[in-house]
Amino acid sequence: MTDEMLTRCSVGREGIVSGRLMPGDEAPELLSLRPSRLSEYIGQRELVESLSIAIEAAKGRGEPLEHLLFHGPPGLGKTTLAHIIANEMGNQLTVTSGPALEKGGDLLGLLTHLEEGDVLFVDEIHRTPKAVEEFLYPAMEDFAVDFVFDKGIHARSHRFRLKRFCLVGATTRVGMLSAPLRDRFGMMRNLDFYVIDDLVRITRRSAALLEVPIDAEGARCLAERSRGTPRIVNRLLKRVRDYAQVRGDGRVDASVVEAALALEGVDPLGLTRLDRRYLKTIIEYYEGGPVGIEAIAATLQEDVDTLVDVVEPYLLAIGMVTRTSAGRRAGADAFRHLGFKVQVKLF
Ligand SMILES: Nc1ncnc2c1ncn2[C@@H]1O[C@H](COP(=O)(O)OP(=O)(O)OP(=O)(O)O)[C@@H](O)[C@H]1O
Ligand SMILES: [Mg+2]
Repeated sequence: MTDEMLTRCSVGREGIVSGRLMPGDEAPELLSLRPSRLSEYIGQRELVESLSIAIEAAKGRGEPLEHLLFHGPPGLGKTTLAHIIANEMGNQLTVTSGPALEKGGDLLGLLTHLEEGDVLFVDEIHRTPKAVEEFLYPAMEDFAVDFVFDKGIHARSHRFRLKRFCLVGATTRVGMLSAPLRDRFGMMRNLDFYVIDDLVRITRRSAALLEVPIDAEGARCLAERSRGTPRIVNRLLKRVRDYAQVRGDGRVDASVVEAALALEGVDPLGLTRLDRRYLKTIIEYYEGGPVGIEAIAATLQEDVDTLVDVVEPYLLAIGMVTRTSAGRRAGADAFRHLGFKVQVKLF
């Protein structure tokens, strides 16, 4: 097994405010910001509560946790939760991702090394090849895998028994998961964008760990510009720290945050250059919509996946854009935010 299979690194082209995992995010400094216990995990209260009940119950019975699926936009804490679950259960975590599992044998190798109660984390599980996915069904349901040796009339099937493990899947596109796979998860939970108060707490926690002196307004200002996403909080905090160190005395207040993030192209609502280009395209080229995502992607010369996974979830969440069966439409707030006159279309 190669290291490549065990780690994942998708490079976003859209810069530091994309929410998507980028190489720098796995730097030891940022990794140390990752909470390791459920009690340190900020926000997502209902999810944390149901998880802590499930963990306590499973531990009480001496059983592994049920298979769990987390879905939601990038950077909201799915991988973090997988680490926390393994910690809380006191078991080992093995990390892989759908695209890294090219053949059934890759998965078999991982599965047969798991001990009782271990956690197997499969990131981007919706991108698991179909042939590999079929190995997952009996593994999840019966803790066994059926392997076929030879071909034709010599074919023999052998059933490997596995230790009872817990599969934690993460996906940004729950709709792309096949029904048989979805049905095999005991719990499915959605991660929402974080509310400002929780983002402020995350900002303060990260600032304390990175030893960045930040005041209350500075923390709020940064939280408001982080697109509801903890990963973006951490990334922006590093930019702000650099700015404060070079242009100021190292201390961070609201004016330092504003100035540093203006340089990064992040506006007061936390929208990035790509967010604004996306909205502007709908408004200017397509008169506010409705317009299909392929047309927007072609005009912007961006790929559809980036727009759907990274750009749209937050813009939809804050009502800047709506999705109808006819396509995307810019909301009145988008017109106002970009300085256009609000156009009301009559249909
Ligand atoms: N609830 C939280 N409290 C504090 N920090 C958090 C929280 N959730 C996430 N973070 C921080 O945000 C970073 C990104 O989270 P994580 O890698 O878990 O996101 P993800 O949902 O797995 O993203 P992707 O879909 O891109 O894999 C973490 O390194 C951690 O520092
Ligand atoms: Mg992740």
